[in-house]
Amino acid sequence: MLKKTLYGVLALLLLLTAAIGGGALAAESGPARPVVVQGAMNLEMQALVAALKNPKEITYGGWTFWQGTIGNLPVVVSRTEVGLTNAAAATTLAIEKFQPRAVINQGTAGGHDPALQRFDIVLGQKSIHFGKFKSNHADSGRGIHSENWIPENVKIRVNGQEKEYPGFAGDPELLKIAQGVAGTYTHGKIVSGVIGSADEWNRELDRIQWVHQKFQTSVEEMETASAAQVAAAYGVPFLGIRILSNSEPRNQDWDPKAGAYCQEYVLEVLKALDRAAKP
Ligand code: 5AD
Repeated sequence: MLKKTLYGVLALLLLLTAAIGGGALAAESGPARPVVVQGAMNLEMQALVAALKNPKEITYGGWTFWQGTIGNLPVVVSRTEVGLTNAAAATTLAIEKFQPRAVINQGTAGGHDPALQRFDIVLGQKSIHFGKFKSNHADSGRGIHSENWIPENVKIRVNGQEKEYPGFAGDPELLKIAQGVAGTYTHGKIVSGVIGSADEWNRELDRIQWVHQKFQTSVEEMETASAAQVAAAYGVPFLGIRILSNSEPRNQDWDPKAGAYCQEYVLEVLKALDRAAKP
């Protein structure tokens, strides 16, 4: 009887520990798991590498990672390279090799929402593939009408079950921490929104407006939804953080300074994560 009660209490304690320890920022015993921060190009991640204490460089195939710390927080900076396939490969490697507690994908993007301008930052409440379509049959000579194409959801297998995703939600805890340091950013405003990803760089205003209406995209770029998809399959908390480096609706050309500004802000997010991770 006493033994049974003891087992019961033990089981309850285990359950409670699992429940409390579930978050991205939970204090852990054993070696602390890192936060992976991704950027596609050098101009989008080199300042973060420079901010690492004791950086160690490691390359798998075509993808390079830098392991180090920011404050007491273990951080792995990842250069994903450009595009959806590169982002998926880099994220898979990052999760398999480093077992991160969270993945942050950050960098430049093009504005879809006319209310946003260059150097504003979008925190990804959601990221979505906007390049996955099917079309109905049309006979030869009927032309190409991409506005009639039908968007399709992405499917992945999670814990053995096939699931459909009409976009990937940003982790609420990471989102809250990022919002908490919005006041440190001086180059523009910080909003929550939808990050649209495809292997496309769109400059036709009608196309941009169509995508914006169909998918509620705030910005477009080429990696976030792909990284989010892999993170979702592994159950790793994820957040996209994207700065406008250009905006066709606002007639603002690409400016490389955006890469540096985004990293300045992401560094503040990492410092906040370090503070939050302290027991
Ligand atoms: N459209 C698509 N990708 C963009 N990027 C910046 N602006 C845009 C835009 N308007 C980012 C992509 C990719 C690289 C070419 O720049 O994410 O990594």
